[in-house]
Amino acid sequence: MTSRRSWQDRPHRARPAATDVLAQEIIRLKRDGRTLSAAQIERFVQGLGDGSWSEAQIAALAMAVCLRGMQRDECVALTMAMLRSGRMLAWPELPGPVLDKHSTGGVGDKVSLLLPAMVAACGGFVPMISGPGLGHTGGTCDKLSAIPGYELRPGAERFTQVLRQVGCAVTAAGADLAPADARLYAIRDQTATVESLPLITASILAKKLAAGLQGLVMDVKCGNGAFFDNPPAARELAQSLVEVAGGAGLPTRALVSDMNQVLGRTVGNGLEVIEALDYLTGRAREPRLHELNLALGAEMLLLGGLAFDREAARLKLQAALDSGAAAERFARMVAALGGPADLLERPQASLAVAPVSVAVPAPRSGRLAAMNTREVGLLVLELGGGRSRAGSAIDPRVGLSQVLSLGASVAHGEALAWVHAADRASADRAVARLQAACSWVDADKLAPADPVVIERIG
Ligand code: URA
Repeated sequence: MTSRRSWQDRPHRARPAATDVLAQEIIRLKRDGRTLSAAQIERFVQGLGDGSWSEAQIAALAMAVCLRGMQRDECVALTMAMLRSGRMLAWPELPGPVLDKHSTGGVGDKVSLLLPAMVAACGGFVPMISGPGLGHTGGTCDKLSAIPGYELRPGAERFTQVLRQVGCAVTAAGADLAPADARLYAIRDQTATVESLPLITASILAKKLAAGLQGLVMDVKCGNGAFFDNPPAARELAQSLVEVAGGAGLPTRALVSDMNQVLGRTVGNGLEVIEALDYLTGRAREPRLHELNLALGAEMLLLGGLAFDREAARLKLQAALDSGAAAERFARMVAALGGPADLLERPQASLAVAPVSVAVPAPRSGRLAAMNTREVGLLVLELGGGRSRAGSAIDPRVGLSQVLSLGASVAHGEALAWVHAADRASADRAVARLQAACSWVDADKLAPADPVVIERIG
């Protein structure tokens, strides 16, 4: 006989505490510096996604986190909850490790145009989901947009096909990966809560975890062209990224790298593509760019088990460049994503050239001692190479080329760089701004530059 349970013997189901469900209670806890539980954090992220938390409540919690911080476990919980807010990619059938690199943003940083092809030529698979430029920093998406026909949103099927066939696919983020981050980020942007270590960590890692990686290398920029200008702050972010990614199950290493000068010799979307092509084909390899590429690439190969040690990894990457295998991967990726098939051989045929190009004369003889790199990024933005408002159009032709490195010596009037502009007036403004952004010492004085890789973490 089946017995009907009376109300007395039904198992007692505890009502969730108000602190687990009410936004204002969760905010109050963090406001008072308490540690949030995984359930409370999950509730917040749910609220981001389903609209049950108002913008005021989201902003209040973001500010409380900004002021009070988070424990590592809280940050792991936030990262995982944001990851679960959207689609998660998985690559069960690829015959090699799935790896990626992410930079916190710099000026002239074209590493993301180079490393995916180099690592693919060494046996890795790199599904890189890149973003647009942020503030004065450039974005990989915007650089790739300079290539006519290149499809930044190819759809899941084509993305997978290109990754499988070529070994790398660099595209733009879709709205379906970690969508909770997009809402939170937009509110942080308006409420002075971007600069929070746990919020930056969770925001970056949720999107990277969603890409189904097996190993991640972070390039944490440090210097006057980066979001963090001092080594302790950059180190703290690098440590936070490595530890939280580890807590979320993604093996991660970080390099803190110097951003007190332009990386490479160009800044601007089309111009950086040309420098990347010159690099891959061996026509020109600026030494600091080359060193950073090899250092980041070596960490990727080690994480993927594709090399025994750093030296072997660097040799493997160099061989991929010397043999032309990396250049060939890049060309195949571009063609497979709709770009020109002859970009490598005839870049001039595809990449638009700015109508005005002028040399920037050095205002005195001497050595280049310092560069206000943020100002350099901003002047390229002003030329039309970046966005002053979300969604505004970018001119892929404009920017700087042949930028001198710190320590280089020039005679008065010699070119310290070339400006490429849409018209003469904007070129003249950029010339004056670049001259003002540089400082000089006498040619017989030392002007030491920091090494490009400052520290390795993880
Ligand atoms: N980049 C991101 O993706 N998120 C941040 O919070 C900061 C930089």
